[in-house]
Amino acid sequence: MPGPGPLSGLETTASAATAGAEHGRPWTDGSLGPEDRVDLLLKAMTLDEKVRMLHGALGSPVPTTGYIAPIRRLGVPGVTMTDGPAGVRNGQKATELPAPIAQSASFDTEVARQYGRTLGREARARGQMQLFGPGTNIQRVPVNGRNFEYYSEDPYLSGTIAGAGTTGIQSQGVIATVKHFMANNQETDRMTVSADIDERTLHEIYGTPFDLAIRQGRPGSVMCSYNRVNTVYACSNEHTLRTMLRSRFGFDGYVVSDYPSTHRTSDLVAGLNVELPLPVHVNSLTVRAARLAGAVPQDAIDQRVREVLTVMFRFGLFERDGTKTSPIDEAAGNAAAQRVAEQGAVLLKNDDAALPLTDSARRIAVIGSAAADSAQGGGSSQVDPLSEDTALDAVRKRAGRSAHVTYHDGADPRAAAGAAASADVALVFAHDEEGEGGDRSGLSLPGRQDELISKVAAANPETVVVLQTGGPVLMPWLPRVRSVLETWYPGARGGAATARLLWGDVNPSGKLPQTFPARENEVPANTRAQYPGVNGTARYTEGVHVGYRWYDKTGTEPLFPFGHGLSYSGFSYSDLRLEKSSGGPGDPVSLSFTVTNTGTRAGSEAAQVYVSKPDTEADSPPRELAGYRKVSLAGGESRELRIEVDPRQLSYWDTGADRFRVRPGEYGVAVGPSSREVPLSTSYEVTE
Ligand code: BGC
Repeated sequence: MPGPGPLSGLETTASAATAGAEHGRPWTDGSLGPEDRVDLLLKAMTLDEKVRMLHGALGSPVPTTGYIAPIRRLGVPGVTMTDGPAGVRNGQKATELPAPIAQSASFDTEVARQYGRTLGREARARGQMQLFGPGTNIQRVPVNGRNFEYYSEDPYLSGTIAGAGTTGIQSQGVIATVKHFMANNQETDRMTVSADIDERTLHEIYGTPFDLAIRQGRPGSVMCSYNRVNTVYACSNEHTLRTMLRSRFGFDGYVVSDYPSTHRTSDLVAGLNVELPLPVHVNSLTVRAARLAGAVPQDAIDQRVREVLTVMFRFGLFERDGTKTSPIDEAAGNAAAQRVAEQGAVLLKNDDAALPLTDSARRIAVIGSAAADSAQGGGSSQVDPLSEDTALDAVRKRAGRSAHVTYHDGADPRAAAGAAASADVALVFAHDEEGEGGDRSGLSLPGRQDELISKVAAANPETVVVLQTGGPVLMPWLPRVRSVLETWYPGARGGAATARLLWGDVNPSGKLPQTFPARENEVPANTRAQYPGVNGTARYTEGVHVGYRWYDKTGTEPLFPFGHGLSYSGFSYSDLRLEKSSGGPGDPVSLSFTVTNTGTRAGSEAAQVYVSKPDTEADSPPRELAGYRKVSLAGGESRELRIEVDPRQLSYWDTGADRFRVRPGEYGVAVGPSSREVPLSTSYEVTE
């Protein structure tokens, strides 16, 4: 199902103004459809002009991360491109949004849409026509340096959040770029490693997020990745780029290379459209030579150009000056950043209702340098913030004048513990360091932060830990602290959001999009052959058992399971009903159930639906996420929720038949607050 048009909700005056063609340029007739306009334009283009559409260039009139040069003779505009998934990064300042993982932790597609709208609006304000995001890779290994940029270990959650984010970006007339296609699941050896994956796993786990994002968001662009997939480089890979992406997922946009992930001119035949950032393998000379040698036929060149131009027409780029800039609406950006931070924070532990803080907390010890900083992940998604706040300032403000707030940076754990000893509550802020280009060396908090938390907790039992991490960390001190709040890298208004969450002005409602392991080696890819790989190959022998699928299958206890997250209220689940107790392989499963807020405080709950497939032909995981819905409820309120599970969520990839297949048999359907807590369950029959 294609998403809404790129300009829906925006002014469409530009295209209306140009109905009727300019003299000698019939493709400028805005009353024609994109395909017809491309036909007309292609006929007028020389080979060199066509090649210029297929590679990046310098010379953009506004600062960019990437650029396709214009063809002035024919009135073809240039395409300005920017990073990235956590905020516009074109060398200028923009809103620092919370780390992308905060969106999936919200378990709310509306949050992802708003995040996308903010990215699109600011990209547009900076004169950018294309944005490199959302990052849609599966969080296969929790130490991945780009874990914070991705959404989940679960393909359904990743794909639905990426689809919503794409819709948001493109609602502003900006081309989204779903990246990095595909199996770019580690930063160690990212330029060369071959992800060795069986066909079923490739489709069910690593392809599905892209498939869903494309079906739901219809992105104008996809970025192919650095790594190899089953020995073939991702940007040279016909199987992934053509068979999977175009034929199976229905992608109708253009593929750009990561920087630089092109390896040969004939990548154009495999399905690459645009070599970025600059013409190395794709330029006038190499394409002419490849054409003469028969390695790149003229048809392939025309088709690749056609795919680029079609998107440009679809997004109205011929009808407006996309490089026109305007001031960024900083207040709107910050409000969106704060909302995402509030909706995505996950309350992992809260013993004795230590949170929310109340007025009886008069002496507050704030500890840890992360409290006085605005943590971000490093690399191409790091934003130069227009403004940022800190948790320390926000806590001071929220605690009020009569409170006594002290700060210790925590560099000396003993001294910090001394400072915490006499406080009513100690708030310890801890952070990890993730960044593109390298993986974390392990799952422990860096430096002496574990020691710091342990010492503070020993000195003061009323210790609350606020994590600012891009993914899972080990918590050896967990039994000794009262509460843990995971705020990810919380963005430009992360301080304000954190203070509101700590005091209960907003009730935490995020859930973990990724399992937090209990021990370093208790992870699905736990051998060197699996990760980081041996002799240039990472073997994905865990197959479809990625993330919680592996913990469930092996009966391994995680520190915190996928889908877990607490609230200051309580929620109960009741009355699970299937509209029909059986159906054919192509039928959706409609179900309803009731969620009740059993507390007095208003709050939101992300209810999750899991499906268990009959384990007859393929070795399927014990349960898999098939739907989710976030609902806001006043204290004591109940609401009936209806969810329709798409038959695709019941299917497995049948390698022999080369397609997804729903096999007949009995399916388990379970509903609850996390992957390890499903109070409601029933069964559903798929008939022949
Ligand atoms: C990253 C991409 C990014 C590109 C342009 C690459 O190294 O992998 O995510 O969009 O650089 O900055």
